Amino acid sequence: MKPVKYVVFCAVTLILLMSFKEAVFSANDIKLPKPAFTGKMSVESAMLKKKSVRHFSKDPLTLEQVSQLLWAANGALPVDAISGATVKTLPSAGGIYPLEIFLLTGSDTVKGLPAGIFQYYAISNSLVQISQGDGRLALAQAALSQLWIASAPAVVVIAASFNKMTAKYGNQGIKYVFMESGSSNQNLFLQAEALGLRIGTVGAFEEGSVSSAIKIPAGVTPLFIVPVGK
Ligand SMILES: Cc1cc2nc3c(=O)[nH]c(=O)nc-3n(C[C@H](O)[C@H](O)[C@H](O)COP(=O)(O)O)c2cc1C
Repeated sequence: MKPVKYVVFCAVTLILLMSFKEAVFSANDIKLPKPAFTGKMSVESAMLKKKSVRHFSKDPLTLEQVSQLLWAANGALPVDAISGATVKTLPSAGGIYPLEIFLLTGSDTVKGLPAGIFQYYAISNSLVQISQGDGRLALAQAALSQLWIASAPAVVVIAASFNKMTAKYGNQGIKYVFMESGSSNQNLFLQAEALGLRIGTVGAFEEGSVSSAIKIPAGVTPLFIVPVGK
């Protein structure tokens, strides 16, 4: 590569990485399998099958399935080689991408992952464990004791940094964050159906109770609890 092209390439890469404002490299990263960009079910069939369930078998999920679900919820798309635009699997006002995704697992409920609470990083397609041990029951109790949540082998929490959005859009940004969490929730439903998994969604909880139950970082507000399993 010619020196000028190399400098441009490096600068563009740096800007793209910074625009996501995520920790890209970390010693604690658990690298996830690369998500598949094609599947066995059409989007129409996935919509036809879409159904909320509230009980799950004890069968564990694979790391591939979990990776695919997290990518659908808030994953990065391949960088556009011409425009250099970096976008995710859902639209975001001003390209701000305020959502943060967390994953709760139990012991042996996801093959290859210990019991714990993890944060998902889209650019590196990886997880960072933020706490050890099975947090699913505490989460279910914080969600108005909807205990069925704890029976799911994987529980995704869609959360957001409202400040990221309101810093640019003021009060209007609050509405945008709620809109975007709905996109993420729907992506999860369609992806779960396409993988032949079962899924439910929970909005009935008090945000503060859920935040302290699963100790998500300050400034991040939980919006949906999404249990997934078989
Ligand atoms: C914003 C929102 C909040 C919800 N909260 C809960 C909840 O707290 N508990 C629950 O069991 N289901 C919850 N649901 C799921 C709905 O009850 C479910 O989508 C509805 O009954 C329609 O069923 P279907 O999804 O199978 O079509 C929620 C759905 C949405 C969109």
